[in-house]
Amino acid sequence: MAESMQGLHRTHRCTELTGANVGETVTVMGWVQKQRNKGGVIFVDLRDRSGILQIIFEEDECGTEAFEKATKMRSEFVVAVTGKVTKRAGSANENLATGDIEVRAESCRILSESETPPFPVGVESGTKEDIRLKYRYLDLRNPELQQKLILRSKIATSMRNYMAKEGFIEIETPTLCISTPEGARDYLVPSRVHPGNFYALPQSPQLYKQLLMCSGFDRYFQIARCYRDEDLRADRQPEFTQADMEFSFVDVEDVLDVNEKLIQTVCKETVGMDVKLPLPRMKWIDAMNRYGSDKPDTRFGMELTDVSEVVKGCGFGVFTSALENGGSVRGLCVKGEAGMPRKKIDALVDMAKGSGAKGLAYLAVQEDGTFKSSFAKFMTEEELQALVAAMGGKKGDLLLFAADKNAIVWKVLGQLRLELGAQLGLIDENKFNFLWVVEFPLFEWSDEENRFMAMHHPFTMPMEEDWHMIDTDPGAVRAKAYDIVLNGVELGGGSVRIHQDDIQEKMFEALGFTKERAWEQFNFLLTAFKYGVPPHAGLAYGLDRFVMLLSKADSIREVIAFPKNKDATCLMTSAPGTVDQKQLDELSIAIAKTEE
Ligand code: AMO
Ligand code: AMP
Repeated sequence: MAESMQGLHRTHRCTELTGANVGETVTVMGWVQKQRNKGGVIFVDLRDRSGILQIIFEEDECGTEAFEKATKMRSEFVVAVTGKVTKRAGSANENLATGDIEVRAESCRILSESETPPFPVGVESGTKEDIRLKYRYLDLRNPELQQKLILRSKIATSMRNYMAKEGFIEIETPTLCISTPEGARDYLVPSRVHPGNFYALPQSPQLYKQLLMCSGFDRYFQIARCYRDEDLRADRQPEFTQADMEFSFVDVEDVLDVNEKLIQTVCKETVGMDVKLPLPRMKWIDAMNRYGSDKPDTRFGMELTDVSEVVKGCGFGVFTSALENGGSVRGLCVKGEAGMPRKKIDALVDMAKGSGAKGLAYLAVQEDGTFKSSFAKFMTEEELQALVAAMGGKKGDLLLFAADKNAIVWKVLGQLRLELGAQLGLIDENKFNFLWVVEFPLFEWSDEENRFMAMHHPFTMPMEEDWHMIDTDPGAVRAKAYDIVLNGVELGGGSVRIHQDDIQEKMFEALGFTKERAWEQFNFLLTAFKYGVPPHAGLAYGLDRFVMLLSKADSIREVIAFPKNKDATCLMTSAPGTVDQKQLDELSIAIAKTEE
């Protein structure tokens, strides 16, 4: 039968013990990682969140009762051991923090027994993620995962402390909110009291934090849970956490300044990394032109080159017709890859098509100076030489070209660049390249909706020098919006907000909202703004992404205690689940369709 604590106190975590404790009597508690019975001596590796400690049971030291219990200890039993710390008798184990000491047991308790776990616990076992997610509480015994969650806690604490020191007030905002258009799909919560009405879970505390500025709080901060019903990827979860802030009486520079120092402080305090300030900045248009991405991974080069001018009027119809349709032709120069096998090139072409390209043209500059190419036959020798020169192509290089609308060319080459960077080992995994991307466009055109959409959100301030274009050429207006990017991942983003009704009205107009509809949707915010609103701005980090990158995890799931899988299911609890008819009736909900 499992024993209880009854007056027993833990004196140390396993790896808190060092050579300095030799001779002391201590009590440790944890899980049995491994038990080895060598006849007269039983070795137990005891694990707690700090690490592993070796315990030795010898019958003449610990007595028959404790020795008997030790013979019964199996993996994942929870035990308490009291004993004396000694220098290790055998040779030291360099793999363990406590490798040069051991505890010689004098007494022990079995606090709880364990069945054989569904996979080896506490070690990397190559078990499929689905199984590990089902038994997440067991997987979380793995020290690597524990360290990630411990780092997460440190990062959150460090952020909080820094923000408090800078005069930010932590304020909680509701998670039962009203659904507003724009942005991702909402998660809805039905109201029992108001049949047919729904709350929406917040996609971010955006509107509330702006209202807090109206209330005069001046500097707000919150570590806030957010919900978005969107397609999931390695860096996206349906519920995630933002480190969210808003400031009054500021402009872009003030926000970036506080955040650079925040990043520097957090990186130093949590992973001991020195971040040099100021962080580099890049305009959105330059990021797109150079990297084909608004979140460029600047850890390697292989930048895009615009060759539109060079191929204008050439004999290759794919290029010239893209230009005639207002698009561009751009290329990547893949150094030393002229010999890339056809199969690999075909895979790149398929990838390009997968991201929306009609094709991908290639030209290999062979060692003898001749070209191997999918389009050389359409161009004169002169045109080809000019193209290669414009690309900086040398003997042995592979040149890849996309011709289409700018948005497609950027996307295609941006993705190919990342793929090739990874394939060719060009990325230095030890680099942490923070980068501000600034001067985003205010709007982006949606073919699907056939209208402009806000690139950030409808409350983002256009840049003063572009105000005059908001009616005439909305697509050209730049926003006072900024993203913080780390190693090609969007870590956070924010903007200066509109606090003037005339600009806000124009903004809604450009988004295709009538005045009535805008008032209907955002009544509370627009009304609040009538009673004195300070100029304000803010930013939010994806906390999960911050932890993922600082801990070098491959997926956001590794830094969330209980994540959902790619189908937004929790494999451990089976959420989402069906509910009783009674619950549905109370909520006045009828299920129209169910999946088989
Ligand atoms: P934005 O929508 O850019 O801005 O979100 C801020 C940051 O949150 C993270 N993030 C996510 N992380 C995990 N899973 C998701 N599904 C997910 N979606 C977003 C990203 C992103 O940079 N209210 C504004 C901020 C502001 O303007 O102050 C906002 O929510 O790291
Ligand atoms: P085609 O004449 O259509 O066979 O195309 C000749 C080459 O141009 C092939 O390698 C195609 O993959 C490539 N190609 C076709 N469309 C495009 C495009 N929009 N951008 C770049 N290359 C393309």
